[in-house]
Amino acid sequence: MSGVHHGEAIRERRILASHRVALDVLRLVVLERFPEGAVTWLDVGCGRGQILYGTKGVVGEQEVARIRYFGCDGDRNYCREATEFATQQGFVEPQIVPCGIDQLRAQLGHVQAQFVTIANVVHELEPSLLAATIFDGLACLSGNGVLHVHDIRSVDPAELGSVCWTADEIEVVLAPLLSLFKRPGAQRRVQEWGLEEARDWCLDLWRDRLPLTDDQLAAQRDETVGQVEEAIRTVLPAKRNAHHRALKTYLQYPPQTDESRREVSQAVHECWTISAWLEGVQ
Ligand SMILES: C[S@@+](CC[C@H](N)C(=O)[O-])C[C@H]1O[C@@H](n2cnc3c(N)ncnc32)[C@H](O)[C@@H]1O
Repeated sequence: MSGVHHGEAIRERRILASHRVALDVLRLVVLERFPEGAVTWLDVGCGRGQILYGTKGVVGEQEVARIRYFGCDGDRNYCREATEFATQQGFVEPQIVPCGIDQLRAQLGHVQAQFVTIANVVHELEPSLLAATIFDGLACLSGNGVLHVHDIRSVDPAELGSVCWTADEIEVVLAPLLSLFKRPGAQRRVQEWGLEEARDWCLDLWRDRLPLTDDQLAAQRDETVGQVEEAIRTVLPAKRNAHHRALKTYLQYPPQTDESRREVSQAVHECWTISAWLEGVQ
């Protein structure tokens, strides 16, 4: 499987700002939308299940006991750790499948979830996987469910193989998918958290805002995924050019602060990754 690598943040057991936002949406799902009965949560690229860390504190122990937690990740050890941690936290029979994200539809396409998360994964995904992953996450939603996608704006230290998108870029590349929803373009869909501790973007897609049956949605898959991939291939060279321009300026005026040194490092790493992706380096 390609494209699987690991950032430092998930090695530590602590709540990230992105997890706090995701848990706020979970609270809405569990306490407001589905206050009774079982709730299914599918966590795509779940890592070590770190997002579960604050769940009891946010929704309460009793509610955790009615959440069926499904996950998948390309790293077998993470899957084992996530299963142990979810069990220890009181989730019902957690089922975590070790598989590549390209296997999401085949392995977990049958799951009808009220809550689907793709947290801190998008920056690690190759362009060819990004479109399908978000589409397949959406296809796993039950009637009133929500897909919550969240990602970081920078990785520190920068990593080869990662590209951090901005909210504006995500809005552009996902436009073909977002246009399937009611009132397309009427509102900003991708939110940006401009806080120092959370320079992230996130996107909530509610299934009941999508005026398509499951079959109609499935019929749209290839076309929409293809359109998103095409948009990504337009945006990536522009992103790389912007990095080149910034690096040229830094050549003239060398970075003086930690932040500008981080920017240089991220730009260099992302330029390599974008070139590798566009040129199909294996
Ligand atoms: C930065 S971690 C985030 C983990 C978790 N979602 C969180 O927020 O704590 C990204 C995870 O995505 C997984 N991942 C990245 N690319 C993948 C791929 N192509 N197939 C399967 N898993 C992948 C990695 O193994 C890693 O555990």
